[in-house]
Amino acid sequence: MARTTSPTISHRSARLQVVQLPDPSGDESLAVAVRDGLCSTPKTLPCRFFYDAAGSNLFEQICDLPEYYITRTEDAILAESAHEMVAGWVSDPIMVELGSGSSTKTRRLIRAALNAYARLRYVPIDVSRTILETSARSLVAEFPNLRVRAIAGTYSAALASLAINLDRPKLFVFLGSSLGNFTTDAARSFLREIASVMQPVDRLLLGTDLIKERSLLEDAYDDRQRVTAAFNLNLLTRINRELNANFHLEAFEHRAIYREDQGRVEMHLVSRVDQCVSIADLGLSVEFRAGESIHTENSHKYTVERLAELARSAGLAEESAWTDPDGLFRVQRWMLSR
Ligand code: TRP
Repeated sequence: MARTTSPTISHRSARLQVVQLPDPSGDESLAVAVRDGLCSTPKTLPCRFFYDAAGSNLFEQICDLPEYYITRTEDAILAESAHEMVAGWVSDPIMVELGSGSSTKTRRLIRAALNAYARLRYVPIDVSRTILETSARSLVAEFPNLRVRAIAGTYSAALASLAINLDRPKLFVFLGSSLGNFTTDAARSFLREIASVMQPVDRLLLGTDLIKERSLLEDAYDDRQRVTAAFNLNLLTRINRELNANFHLEAFEHRAIYREDQGRVEMHLVSRVDQCVSIADLGLSVEFRAGESIHTENSHKYTVERLAELARSAGLAEESAWTDPDGLFRVQRWMLSR
């Protein structure tokens, strides 16, 4: 893939650096994804485009919804066990967080690491640079012994850029059941990608959602205040803005369905009518039948056995794991398998 620009450092102070990796080109751009996704059958759009500034803000609101048990349950597990999750090194590991968002839950890990090691280097990676910058600034203000090198970019590009700095122990952190948003194959290759930049002293802290009753799962992705609906529909707003399309938001309906056979909650945008949408920048017209859907997101739910299998197939092995009293969610610490 041709990359025409190099990383730029958009912000720098003694304890804070924000690095912007080159904008993805080729397969990773919005234009290519929209053309591919809306021209295929069934129609799809990749979920990584949810997180523009507006989408990231909506996602922060989702995390506080009463129906969305994931964030508070994971946070309670971290509150209880953060000190164990960051333990085990002689001196401070570098904490690399994938998809950090606003780093709220991560504060618990940062606090625990600073308690254990007195200082810490934190490397948050996120596609949303605005949220990354704001949260990085507030973290260095809050913790005097913290250094932050924030990387704005895709996970793959960011992991590749980290591979040059392998001399110190690392704790990779991937929370919020974000792994569940990959297809099973993509989850496995992503874990392999992480494993490929891991050393024997490194660890991966992974938060995953567990299989449970259908109504709880579907409500978590279709809340009464309709914030999740707004989050899903924001994808169309983004395409309208960035690719000069004319999606009418009222003509699409948010839908969340738990598919037990696939072990996942699926998110769709369903066309309410027969319609034709034009995407000017792509010179493309897309036909929708009433009831036809754009599949925008999967959120896989796991069993402990499935998780063990995933770890094994990526060359990883479980060192420890933590769950909440109701068994809703699981955080596990994995290492390279010997
Ligand atoms: N990782 C989150 C999850 O699967 C992402 C998410 C939460 C999400 N709510 C959503 C994605 C609604 C799309 C739509 O739980």
